Amino acid sequence: MTPGKNATVAVVGAGVIGLSWARLFAEHGLTVRVADPRADLVVPDGVEVAPSVAEAVRDADFVQENGPEDLEFKKTLFAELVREAPAHALLLSSSSAIPSTAFTRGIDGSRVLIGHPFNPPHVIPLVEVVPGEQTSEESVDRAVAFYRSLGRTPVVERKEIPGFVGNRLQAALSREAAYLVEQGVVTPQDLDTVVTSSLGIRWATVGPFLGAHLGGGPGGYRHLAEHIGKSMQGLRLGTPSPDPERLIRAVEDAYGSSTYSALAEARDRKQLAVLTAVEEN
Ligand SMILES: NC(=O)c1ccc[n+]([C@@H]2O[C@H](COP(=O)([O-])OP(=O)(O)OC[C@H]3O[C@@H](n4cnc5c(N)ncnc54)[C@H](O)[C@@H]3O)[C@@H](O)[C@H]2O)c1
Repeated sequence: MTPGKNATVAVVGAGVIGLSWARLFAEHGLTVRVADPRADLVVPDGVEVAPSVAEAVRDADFVQENGPEDLEFKKTLFAELVREAPAHALLLSSSSAIPSTAFTRGIDGSRVLIGHPFNPPHVIPLVEVVPGEQTSEESVDRAVAFYRSLGRTPVVERKEIPGFVGNRLQAALSREAAYLVEQGVVTPQDLDTVVTSSLGIRWATVGPFLGAHLGGGPGGYRHLAEHIGKSMQGLRLGTPSPDPERLIRAVEDAYGSSTYSALAEARDRKQLAVLTAVEEN
């Protein structure tokens, strides 16, 4: 089914990511049914709560799964989704690191694939679309069309790798950030300021490759690689300690006095302002 105003979407798992997807789907006029066993479930305006996963997906055109990041959980859940959802329903997983081939062995995975967002998906445009070994080309095309119809920016990744692309890039930077704080080079707040005042602004407009190509001036990427690149190659990047307790306490000291909702609202406001500024220029 072509995505559109009449589509029905089931959101399975309504934690941080599921609730944000539900909000986005409802804002685009889709019928949204949520299933989650949590006792404190509160859903965004215009979203229905289903009594079970089977009921949520019964007449769904699209299912967006956002349960715990646990292989056994996803195996059991996707077996149920394949059984209970209509034959035409596309079954998308928000999984951050587990490729869909791992949880579709022994079941029909032709309409199962990863639709991995960045938090919060109602604001951040990227969705990594990652087919598994069984996923049909038609399912990939439908996933891309679905996310585009919601104003998202889908990128299809053709080879499964744990963590996909975005989280692998993030993990590389986070690892060095943890090391620098642990070594006492910089505080958590100052490290965040280094990123938000430089790399974050740069990377909101040009990716690492175009940024480097421009960094080389008229000589482009080649000049940068031969000139500054050599000094960077000599850097020995650090390995953070395996026990993160001191680091956790340092981050909690930095940000723990503000509420989650105040921090999340400020984040949404600032990110939307950056997106607006980028779109207007
Ligand atoms: N948090 C992030 O930044 C982020 C970003 C992108 C993708 N993801 C991925 O999205 C998924 C969800 O992550 P999250 O951060 O929202 O986790 P979360 O812990 O906030 O939410 C998980 C939800 O699943 C529910 N759940 C448990 N068993 C269930 C069942 N049988 N049926 C339906 N719901 C059930 C839980 O009650 C909970 O509300 C994970 O696969 C994660 O890797 C997370």
